[in-house]
Amino acid sequence: MQKDKPFSQACENNKAPILEKLTELFKQPGTILEIGTGTGQHAVHFASHLPHLVWQPSDHPQNAQLARAWIDDSELGNIYSPIALNVLEGNWSGLPAIDGVFSANTAHIMAWQEVEAMFHGVSRILPVNGLFCLYGPFSYGSRHTSESNSRFDLSLRTQAPHMGIRDMEDLVALGAETGLALEDDFEMPANNRLLVWRKS
Ligand SMILES: C[S@@+](CC[C@H](N)C(=O)[O-])C[C@H]1O[C@@H](n2cnc3c(N)ncnc32)[C@H](O)[C@@H]1O
Repeated sequence: MQKDKPFSQACENNKAPILEKLTELFKQPGTILEIGTGTGQHAVHFASHLPHLVWQPSDHPQNAQLARAWIDDSELGNIYSPIALNVLEGNWSGLPAIDGVFSANTAHIMAWQEVEAMFHGVSRILPVNGLFCLYGPFSYGSRHTSESNSRFDLSLRTQAPHMGIRDMEDLVALGAETGLALEDDFEMPANNRLLVWRKS
């Protein structure tokens, strides 16, 4: 029976362009950890189109089961059950061996301390040469790339001061500190980017 499933229109809009990039980036068979999976729409879309990959969804304990309905309904054999993963906590134990990491629209929701923890954790679990792909809106030299991103940033900071669009300079510096070298910065629709770091 069809269950009520959480739905994000943004995921429907961005899943095809993101898939196009992930298809180029994750060519080899392997297991991909998704951080902050949300509804599960991305997980199902990417796993169904990239059958050489195994997808490991995860999210903050508060949201870890949100993706369950999409994943169960998909009946795909290459998605593991979603796991609870708060990037701030512990040593991310209980994960299978990970070959790559993907995360969408998380860096502006997390506090900067969580973004730092995410980079440290990703670097710990990635093998040398493994990729970390981070999708979302970003600013450059503290300048937003569009009026709408500027408004979005203001609305985030008004809702909660710890949230906000992250600046590339800070992320590149954080990557360098944690052994992740920025390799690509793809322009994506709707003023978003797909940033790709390689574990050195
Ligand atoms: C805006 S949603 C993005 C969901 C999905 N990736 C998407 O693109 O629609 C932000 C996600 O980040 C997750 N998140 C926030 N803080 C987190 C943390 N400390 N550890 C793991 N995930 C976190 C939230 O639970 C939420 O699922």
